[in-house]
Amino acid sequence: MPSLKFFMFFLVQLGSTSAADRKNLYHDCSNATTFSRNSTYQSNLNFFLSSLVSNATRSNGFSNGFYNATAGQDPNKVYGLFLCRADVSPTTCRDCVNFATSDALKLCPVQKDTVIWYEECLFRYSNVSIFSTMDPSPMILLSNVNNVTEPARFKQLLGNTMNEAATQAADSSKRFATRKENFTTFEKLYCLVQCTPDLSSLECNSCLQQSFGGLPSDKKGGRIFSPSCYSRFELYPFYNDTATAAPPPPPPPTPVLSPPPPVSVARPEGKSGISSSIIIAIIAPTVVAVVLFIAGYCLLIRRARKKNSPPPEDNGKSLKSYFINHPNNLLLPIVCA
Ligand SMILES: *[C@@H]1O[C@H](CO)[C@@H](O)[C@H](O)[C@H]1NC(C)=O
Ligand SMILES: *[C@@H]1O[C@H](CO)[C@@H](O)[C@H](O)[C@H]1NC(C)=O
Ligand SMILES: *[C@@H]1O[C@H](CO)[C@@H](O)[C@H](O)[C@H]1NC(C)=O
Ligand SMILES: *[C@@H]1O[C@H](CO)[C@@H](O)[C@H](O)[C@H]1NC(C)=O
Ligand SMILES: *[C@@H]1O[C@H](CO)[C@@H](O)[C@H](O)[C@H]1NC(C)=O
Ligand SMILES: *[C@@H]1O[C@H](CO)[C@@H](O)[C@H](O)[C@H]1NC(C)=O
Ligand SMILES: *[C@@H]1O[C@H](CO)[C@@H](O)[C@H](O)[C@H]1NC(C)=O
Ligand SMILES: *[C@@H]1O[C@H](CO)[C@@H](O)[C@H](O)[C@H]1NC(C)=O
Repeated sequence: MPSLKFFMFFLVQLGSTSAADRKNLYHDCSNATTFSRNSTYQSNLNFFLSSLVSNATRSNGFSNGFYNATAGQDPNKVYGLFLCRADVSPTTCRDCVNFATSDALKLCPVQKDTVIWYEECLFRYSNVSIFSTMDPSPMILLSNVNNVTEPARFKQLLGNTMNEAATQAADSSKRFATRKENFTTFEKLYCLVQCTPDLSSLECNSCLQQSFGGLPSDKKGGRIFSPSCYSRFELYPFYNDTATAAPPPPPPPTPVLSPPPPVSVARPEGKSGISSSIIIAIIAPTVVAVVLFIAGYCLLIRRARKKNSPPPEDNGKSLKSYFINHPNNLLLPIVCA
């Protein structure tokens, strides 16, 4: 097994950025396999990059949030895929992938094997088949700088919540799950995990379990990216709760039973329609309340810190507004291994 590469960054908040200056969180392109300009691989890759978005649109790839395609023939075949975070809209997904296809050759001009991670999507291609194959390396860690209170209890909560999320994701067809749990009276833990849906349930769980080993369980937030899976936690709601709150399809009846009659199908449908509008009605005010509350809480903390005159470095690195805005992040490499 290849040794896992770990890269670590700390997050620094930036103002909000538009799609035009979307920034990759990290890209990995190995110089081990490169193509020469004007080669057949180059022209296959150009064709792949230029036809991907329109083909994926035709095939509902952006609604599914996942799409795989090839271009050309062996030995110069290009295998490529994208995966969008399952809570983003098809439009955001398409924008992200569209950006990625124009960004790829700028970031990795001559590399055959390329992975690029953005906030909302993962884009990847290679000259070898990457479909239905778990690839947990490299793992990229992005970490918040701030320590949690009660690290021992937090570590336990994070481990349990992530494990539950991984099980749920591995069992779902989208290979995706979110979980939230109370940490303190004022803080909730939000977790999101996702695998490429071409992985088996077992591979997905295994990929996520490997990634959990790298999560910074003493910090207020962290994410691990690999080519095949993604895990992230924060103490603020960073994913779209409404998009992820959709109830899973009802489990199929046990094989010995005949399918339920239409009447019994109609009832849960009616029910779920009602409950989802209730969920939206409850969530919207809750999010506003949480944001207002956090804003107040941060103010209090700032005042308290002024009084107690904290170490100045702490203030420099501290990301209080991080909890209020949902930032686009500039990544400063701090530690590399
Ligand atoms: C690949 O080679 C280019 C040009 O020699 C170099 O600038 C780049 O840093 C190399 N990339 C890696 C990941 O080693
Ligand atoms: C992929 O590219 C590398 C380097 O150019 C080459 O050695 C390898 O045989 C290629 N793999 C396939 C399946 O074509
Ligand atoms: C690539 O092809 C173009 C036109 O076919 C030519 O002008 C250019 O010099 C070639 N570049 C290389 C590096 O061979
Ligand atoms: C896009 O679709 C066209 C027509 O079906 C096909 O020839 C081409 O290979 C496809 N490209 C990709 C990247 O899937
Ligand atoms: C996408 O991947 C699946 C395996 O996961 C494969 O069966 C299918 O042929 C791939 N699609 C294309 C267009 O290569
Ligand atoms: C987090 O805790 C470590 C020691 O456990 C300490 O060295 C570091 O400065 C703390 N970071 C912050 C931002 O308080
Ligand atoms: C989490 O906290 C909220 C209020 O802060 C409370 O209503 C809810 O019951 C708590 N959930 C659990 C599982 O303790
Ligand atoms: C969240 O998802 C829902 C349902 O997909 C969508 O209607 C809503 O616009 C999304 N909200 C944001 C902030 O993206």
